[in-house]
Amino acid sequence: MPASEEPLDVPTESATSPRVSRKAVLRAAAALGATPLLARGGVALARDRTTKARSLEATPSCHDGDEPTIEQIEGPYFKPDSPLRTSLVTNSTPGTRLTVTGYVFSRTCQPIAGALLDFWQADDNGNYDNVGFGFRGHQFSTSQGAFTLTTIVPGLYPGRTRHLHVKLQSPGQPVITTQLYFPGEPRNSTDTIFDARLLMDVRQVGPARAATFDFVLDAPQGPTTPPTTPPSGTWAAGTSYHAGDVVTYGASTYRCLQAHTAITGWEPPNVPALWQRG
Ligand SMILES: [Fe+2]
Repeated sequence: MPASEEPLDVPTESATSPRVSRKAVLRAAAALGATPLLARGGVALARDRTTKARSLEATPSCHDGDEPTIEQIEGPYFKPDSPLRTSLVTNSTPGTRLTVTGYVFSRTCQPIAGALLDFWQADDNGNYDNVGFGFRGHQFSTSQGAFTLTTIVPGLYPGRTRHLHVKLQSPGQPVITTQLYFPGEPRNSTDTIFDARLLMDVRQVGPARAATFDFVLDAPQGPTTPPTTPPSGTWAAGTSYHAGDVVTYGASTYRCLQAHTAITGWEPPNVPALWQRG
């Protein structure tokens, strides 16, 4: 059984925070019958579809300038170089199936394409795989800023409430680390790391659970990362790189940490989650 994570910061209870209000609105919109956003064919359009929910009009919209998703401690169990995958389970994996879906937005509510999401969590028994890469995986948001994680509900371990860990990075921006929580968990009220602003919207779907959460990253440029200095050396946009690949960019050498297809804006100095210098 792993040791508990040290509660290095004590979050303020935020039942009245604007962020909670926004999440509450999204949950309410879902309850009122909003269909999956991708099915609507447009994120921005879908986010505007609160017009049906007249009672929600006074709520700050996504266009009012959201606060970025708050950061939380990494804890002791993060490992770099996780596999590129959206599913952390097989048919025989024990545990309650959980699907987490959502979007990565900029503060101006534009979907961020190609954002890195690196998830890790405990297994059904509350243990982290510190030897292999069980329940660890990274992915990149789609062209519409969407992500999907297929996993299980993480088990409990001493000192913490139920949670997922995730690192996120908009192309060319710093990595942020945070955690996601489940509503209605008895330990939410005693875990000093828990923060209500990071509660997912979770519903039961047969024997499984479906959760949603939208991240907001401090990336004011939105989905269209402006062109930067053209690549030089051997690194090139459009190239598929694998973990361990070595390239030069500018006058420096970099080693690939995670498989990905390079795009402009992901030059090695800009994306420490993907490239390590030296
Ligand atoms: Fe943890």
